Amino acid sequence: MAETIDIGLAPEGVQSLALKRANRHGLIAGATGTGKTVTLQVLAEAFAREGVNVFAADIKGDLSGCAAPGDPPPAWATARAAEINMPLTPEAQPAAFWDVYGELGHPVRTTVTEMGPVLMGRVLEATDAQEGALTIAFRLADDWLNEGKNEGLLLDLNDLRALLTYLSENSEDIGKKYGLVTPQSIAALQRKVLQLEMDGADRFFGEPAFKLEELTRARPDGKGTINVLASERLVQSPRLYSAFLLWLMSELWEQLPEVGDLDKPKLVFFFDEAHLLFRDAPKELINKVEQVVRLIRSKGVGIYFVTQSPADIPETVLAQLGNRFQHALRAYTPTDQKAVRAAAQSFRANENVDVAKEIQELNVGEALVSTLDAKGAPTPVARTKVRPPNSQVGPILPAQRAALMKANTAGRAYEKAVDRVSAHEILGKRAAQLADAEAREEAQAARDKEAAKAARTRSTGGATPRARSGGSRTTPLERQGGRVASGVFNTIVRELMRGILGTPSRRRR
Ligand SMILES: Nc1ncnc2c1ncn2[C@@H]1O[C@H](COP(=O)(O)OP(=O)(O)OP(=O)(O)O)[C@@H](O)[C@H]1O
Ligand SMILES: [Mg+2]
Repeated sequence: MAETIDIGLAPEGVQSLALKRANRHGLIAGATGTGKTVTLQVLAEAFAREGVNVFAADIKGDLSGCAAPGDPPPAWATARAAEINMPLTPEAQPAAFWDVYGELGHPVRTTVTEMGPVLMGRVLEATDAQEGALTIAFRLADDWLNEGKNEGLLLDLNDLRALLTYLSENSEDIGKKYGLVTPQSIAALQRKVLQLEMDGADRFFGEPAFKLEELTRARPDGKGTINVLASERLVQSPRLYSAFLLWLMSELWEQLPEVGDLDKPKLVFFFDEAHLLFRDAPKELINKVEQVVRLIRSKGVGIYFVTQSPADIPETVLAQLGNRFQHALRAYTPTDQKAVRAAAQSFRANENVDVAKEIQELNVGEALVSTLDAKGAPTPVARTKVRPPNSQVGPILPAQRAALMKANTAGRAYEKAVDRVSAHEILGKRAAQLADAEAREEAQAARDKEAAKAARTRSTGGATPRARSGGSRTTPLERQGGRVASGVFNTIVRELMRGILGTPSRRRR
């Protein structure tokens, strides 16, 4: 196994990344079109070649190219390889495709319960009051689950909605035990859940939920797998995008065992468009990210943020990113200039490189590089011509993607959504039964009234006026009856499914 992966050539010599320090995180920054994605691809394919699994969000679809040999390479790649005297051997890497919307990859889902109130609040852009209501809803659901009641199971958005309805209908009782929730907060949350559904996010919440084994599984040929998350559409819902990646990161942190410093990481996680993660993020969330980033490296996971300016990343997080690839930055505005100065200060000095000046002069495909050496010390910053990737630059064809997806048995296990009995069905059924009983009473009262009227008419000898509620109109009772019947059928199907799938989902929050 190699100890380092080569990034490119600088006047000081070949610049590389020590695999042993790859879990000390990284940053790929630079203005649009300066070569960030190519650098990401160079790193990702080298990790895979060395047996390190990768997870990367693919914002423009171009990263999918890592699954195909770049043959023939584009002219710029051949020219760059010759210029820096590095080999360019067309080679594909193993890749798996994932997609929240289930279109460009196997579906990735998680349950509302697992997402938890904080991230869910962020996805819903909840105000403080609404987040408070969400927290109460989750606490109530948790208590139910602890009592062994499945109405506390929040799998999909229907479940969340049913729980919120229950909360508003029983706000007085619940308020006494858990704290006050206003009908306004609930109504606003309901609207936001609906909006989320209309954006297509309902496909993201549910089962089978994504298992982390998909990201940590070893391959028989010793290579790593590049897990590509199709994000072109997802990133249009920035809150969902960032909440999903945060969820994944915190799951990795919670579930993976401590391993200390390994010869190479178990997984490298590329977080593209990282500014979306921190934009308008409450301090509490930033603290949490900072903590996860700090602790996750001893689990063998390296996190690489990809963004335009280092200033997009909070100082506390930035300070932990040991491996830096800084492409050109433009400094038009005072804010830009501040970012350039900040970027410059974060590098270990090299007397031959005037960082603040050169950062603005870098050509496309050039980066200021500083990585952690085998001892963990930052290498002096070097102006590096980044090598071209061996895999294809630019997206693969839809047919290639489809073939790769078809061949991925583990991924195909997620294709079919499963909806087992949870809050929505149970609370829905309860409400239906309640309505049923009410409707029965109502119908009985109506019949009594009719009977009394008929008796009166008979006694006066007049004609019965034609009932206003004509034959085609169904009674509330009939409507409820239909709903209950189909509910029971669904319940049976779901119970069966559950039997096949085994235990209910793990729950922590
Ligand atoms: N290492 C390199 N050597 C030579 N040319 C490169 C290199 N990297 C990138 N380029 C050139 O720059 C183009 C844009 O690169 P890339 O897509 O990586 O930019 P980017 O920073 O990701 O852009 P965006 O911000 O739009 O996503 C490439 O198509 C290629 O022509
Ligand atoms: Mg890019």
